[in-house]
Amino acid sequence: MTEKLTAVKQSFETELAAAQSLDELENIRVSYLGKKGSITELLKGMKDLSVEEKKDFGGKVNVLKNEATEQIALKMKELKEKEIEREIGSMPEFDLSVPANLSRGSYHPITLVQRECERIFKSMGFNVEDYSEVVTDYECFEALNIPKHHPARDMQDTYYLENGQLLKSHTSAAQNAIYKKYKSALVNEGKPIKAIFPGRCFRNEATDACHENTFFQMEGVMVDKDISISNLIFFMKTMLSEVFKRDVKVRLRPGFFPFVEPGFELDISCAICGGEGCPSCKHSGWLELCPCGMIHPEVLKSGGIDPEEYTGFAFGLGLTRLAMMKYGVKDIRDLNSGSLKSLSQFTDDE
Ligand code: PHE
Repeated sequence: MTEKLTAVKQSFETELAAAQSLDELENIRVSYLGKKGSITELLKGMKDLSVEEKKDFGGKVNVLKNEATEQIALKMKELKEKEIEREIGSMPEFDLSVPANLSRGSYHPITLVQRECERIFKSMGFNVEDYSEVVTDYECFEALNIPKHHPARDMQDTYYLENGQLLKSHTSAAQNAIYKKYKSALVNEGKPIKAIFPGRCFRNEATDACHENTFFQMEGVMVDKDISISNLIFFMKTMLSEVFKRDVKVRLRPGFFPFVEPGFELDISCAICGGEGCPSCKHSGWLELCPCGMIHPEVLKSGGIDPEEYTGFAFGLGLTRLAMMKYGVKDIRDLNSGSLKSLSQFTDDE
């Protein structure tokens, strides 16, 4: 009988150790402790034993029964915990910071080039300034050496508000405010004025593949003692080679703007047709990208800066044009179209 008990005990322990699931465990419980279970059978088999033997053996079987019950309870707890862990493990991980699984938006190509230019100029020590879209006639024209009735105003017809203010026709409209903001640091602390100010501009124009009534520019100015055209060329070249990540062909032509003297047109070879001529470059192979020049003494004076002591350069980078060149957008109108089909294909490659 004792051997039988030992055998039952051993097989119970082996089976219990091998049990992987709650179902298996329940089967083991029934086959050992159920009405017809092996342990229950041991008790039943005692009827032929002597009183002494019954006492001794019965005690041992009871110990086994209690132990088995206890071990089953323990195993059940262990298997339940494992099951919960398995369930947790199979759940997708929850991360609050992950955006909802909606289809993602994308940056507008102009935003991408604007940010890239900002990054490049910031790395060269320029401040990035913001300026309003509605400005005064003084800011947009008079402070820039374009008096009323000057023919240069014809090139920049814009939209006027009833109160006499207007939608800025170029980012140069912020120049006056920038000079006034930084002039004391320039004069008192000797800190050069180095600022860029990107912004949306408006012109009353007929639209075609390369003209829009709404477009983006990024103005840049640098004022200090002894600033010359070579400084201007250096910054322009550095910026363009960074943006296009290759050597870009540029040419400088004389250009007229009342607020610079001398003034230039910086053209880049059309990246769309490779310089052969196409509608985007008016079949010339070149695209006007960045008018620039040395700031006119009158303009510095309007900003409270003494032109006898300080000189500077200014440029008006066409961000819209730059985006067209960089991404090969053939028609400027696509950029303002709001068509996600064309606009959502640009990605931030940084
Ligand atoms: N503001 C001029 C334009 O939009 C561009 C320009 C800026 C020219 C700075 C010279 C210097 O036409």
